[in-house]
This record gives sequence, structure tokens and C-alpha cells, in this order.
Amino acid sequence: MSLRRLSLALLLLAPGLLAQTPKQPTLQEALLAARADRVGTPGAEAAFRRLADAHGTPLYIYDQAHIQGQAAALKAAFGPRFPKLRILYALKANTNPAVIGLLRAEGLGAEVVSVGEIETALQVGYKGPEIMFTSSSKGPAELRRAIALGTVLNVDSMDELSQIQVEARRQKKQARISFRINPGVDPHTIHQINTGIAESKFGLHLQGGLAFKAYETAKGMPEVLIEGAHCHIGSQITETEGYLLTARKMLAFVKELKDKLDIRLGFLDLGGGLGIPYRDGQVVMSPEELAQALAPVWKEGVAAAGYEPTLWLEPGRFFVGGAGYLLVRVNTVKTTPLKTFVNVDAGFNTLMRPAMYQAYHRVRLIGRTADPLTVDIAGDVCETGDILAEGRLLPKAKAGDLVVILDAGAYGFSMSSEYNARPLAAEVLVSGNTAKVVRRRGQFKDLFRSAATAPK
Ligand SMILES: Cc1ncc(COP(=O)(O)O)c(C=O)c1O
Repeated sequence: MSLRRLSLALLLLAPGLLAQTPKQPTLQEALLAARADRVGTPGAEAAFRRLADAHGTPLYIYDQAHIQGQAAALKAAFGPRFPKLRILYALKANTNPAVIGLLRAEGLGAEVVSVGEIETALQVGYKGPEIMFTSSSKGPAELRRAIALGTVLNVDSMDELSQIQVEARRQKKQARISFRINPGVDPHTIHQINTGIAESKFGLHLQGGLAFKAYETAKGMPEVLIEGAHCHIGSQITETEGYLLTARKMLAFVKELKDKLDIRLGFLDLGGGLGIPYRDGQVVMSPEELAQALAPVWKEGVAAAGYEPTLWLEPGRFFVGGAGYLLVRVNTVKTTPLKTFVNVDAGFNTLMRPAMYQAYHRVRLIGRTADPLTVDIAGDVCETGDILAEGRLLPKAKAGDLVVILDAGAYGFSMSSEYNARPLAAEVLVSGNTAKVVRRRGQFKDLFRSAATAPK
């Protein structure tokens, strides 16, 4: 064949060859591949390398579509069954303004736990009255700001109620309040995130009539406007039972308030806490299952009470947990007489949950499939407890490899610190094939930003 003919034949073949080249996954598809444990596929591997090369590690990556999908799923499950419904986003789970902005665009209100979170919510565009402020220990400046803004104060003690009364009088305003009620329900979750049991520090107990007394006292205060009642029994709740028990108790209380004090609440907030699956195959109640189970309990309770307050919900983790991926790089691999450690460039300063309450996160080693062995993924913080994942069967890792830690979107970055003088990780928001930096990587100068003496 002449050279000319050969090149002509190649030209004709080329489009066919191109058509057979597998489509490269988008960044978002690569994230989904990591979920499905397909990070060995060359396209997914390339996507993670692209992210690490462009933004460095450790890197928090959030999947925009996942966040929006979770909000849509919750609205679809509860909306048709509860016509009087308001959903808030608990900012503490992930305080990145871009993430909050996505949930605000979904029509969600804001539930905050500090004046810093109030300021964050305002930055994102919330107005004071759209915010609910819950904390068991609010300082005078926090009360001042919240009352001035018309934010709903979720009152946690009689002491706080008196302080609100004084401040509202000073501002010549009526403070909008609800009480956080401790219903004495155990939702069977991790002890440290179990908030509605009797021994917890949170709320005014139904037990012993403390909650009732609070409403009775507040009713006699012209400085406060009682808007609702609140409870939050814990986090990472995977079964409906705790919610149903709580709803029954709270609705009976709603009736008691009306019958005995003639108080009608605008809302009853059943809190957040909806769990997500952290392990492969883990079964967790869906929003649909929760809404379906709650609907008859709600119906019965409001019928007994004789009126219907608006149902408020305020999840955090549910919206953002599964949307987050922490991408880290292997520094070294070390085998001791007992274990093999894969030492990565992030520790509990970046992801606190495993060290704080032995939380489990799935991990994926990018681009490797061979020679599996059981390892601990160890952090770079100088503390024995700094293990991100323990006893995991993973392909053999080498220095420079990338590891993805799944489901890191909730209580990940928001709990991170600069401990060991390590600047904070960067955060990117992925949509389709683009990754937008939504928080720049911390710099060394950030470590000294508020120190009295700056280094030369
Ligand atoms: C009062 C309150 N509301 C809502 C939440 C959000 O919880 P989760 O992220 O589990 O939905 C929390 C978190 O613990 C909380 O303390």
C-alpha cells in the first residue's frame, strides 16, 4: 500500500477509533465511582488526580447535585403529607457559605448554634427572622444580636429566659422564643451525639414539669413572644422509632399547653438527626419511610390537640454528609510488628469524627487494585488516637497515592482546626465537570493572623 493510501485509510478509520474510546467521566461521575468502589477505573483515577493537582491535598470536595437531591428528597417525602411544613438547615454540619447558599436556594430556613453562625447565615442572604438560634449556653452578646435581628431564640433554661427578658426590655422589643424541650427519648445512636436523653445537658425536661413551668413563666412576660416548641433527640438516627416516640410526647405537650395555659404554638420543631449510611450495605430509614411513619402519629396528635402547629425539621448531616469527600495523599507506608500504617497528609485536625467518636468512614485507594492487605489509615497529627480508619482491607498503597474518605461532608470541615499548626484544608464544590474553589486552602500566615506578635 502506498503511503498516501495508508494515510487515507487511517483517516477513514480514525472517527471509528475515536468513537470507541470510552467517555471520560466528569468530576461528578468520578465522585460517584468512588462511592461505588470503582476508583480503579482509569477515568475516575484521572479525575481525582486532576483535583489533587489543581487544588492540592487535603481537599474537601462537595457534590452539588447530591446536596440538591437530598433537599428535594426530603421535601418530596414530607411536603405532600404535612401541608404545614418548614424545613431548616442546621448550619453546624457544614458552614461553607456556598453549601448554605445551595440549601437556601432550595427554600430552607437556617438553624444556628452560635452568633458566628448567625453572621454566616446573614452573609449568605438570610434575614434575621428566618433564623432559629439554638444553644444551651448563649452569651450576652449573642442574646443582644439575636433579639435585635428578630431571630427566634430557642431557650434552653429559665436563667436564659430571664436574661432574654431583661435584654428585650432594654431594646424595647419583643423577643421571639421557643423552648428546647428534653423529651427523655433515647434514639439509640452514638452516646456523644445523643441529646434527648434525661441526663443530657440540653433543654428543659418534660419530666418533672420543667418544660411546662417554662411556658407558664414566659406567658406572663410581655417582653417575649412564644412562637413554638423544639426538641432534637440526637444525630445519625437510623430508625423511625425514636422520632415517633418523641412526636407523641411533644404533641401531648402541645395539647397540655393549650388545655392548661391556653397557649397555641405556631410551630413544633422535631429537630434534625436523620442518619445516612456510612458503611457499605448499611440500612438507614429513608425520608419517605420517616414521613410515612410520622404522618399518622402527627394526625392523631394534632386532632387531640385541636389545632395544627407547623411542623419544623432541621437536619444538617442528611443534606451534606454523603455529598462530601475528603481527598488525602499518602506520605509514607510503614509496617510494624503488629500493623501496617498508611500515613496520610490529614489527621483529626481535618476530620475529627473518627477520633472523637470512633465514627466509621469508607475509604478508597485511588487507582490501585493489587495485593490487598489490612491497614490503618493514620493521620499526620502527633497524637496516638489520630487514626482515620482502622483495620481496612485495601490494595497495597505507596507514597504519593491518593485516598478518598467518603461521606465527609457533615461535621468534617466545620469541626476542623489548625492543631499542630496545620493550615485548614481547601474546599471545592463540584458540579458536572467543574470544581469551584469555595474556600481557599489555609496558609501559614493564617496561623499567626490574630497572634499578638507576628513572626518576622
Ligand atoms: C439543635 C440541633 N439541631 C439540628 C442538628 C443537626 O443534626 P443532624 O446533623 O444530625 O441532622 C443538631 C446537631 O446535633 C442540633 O444540635
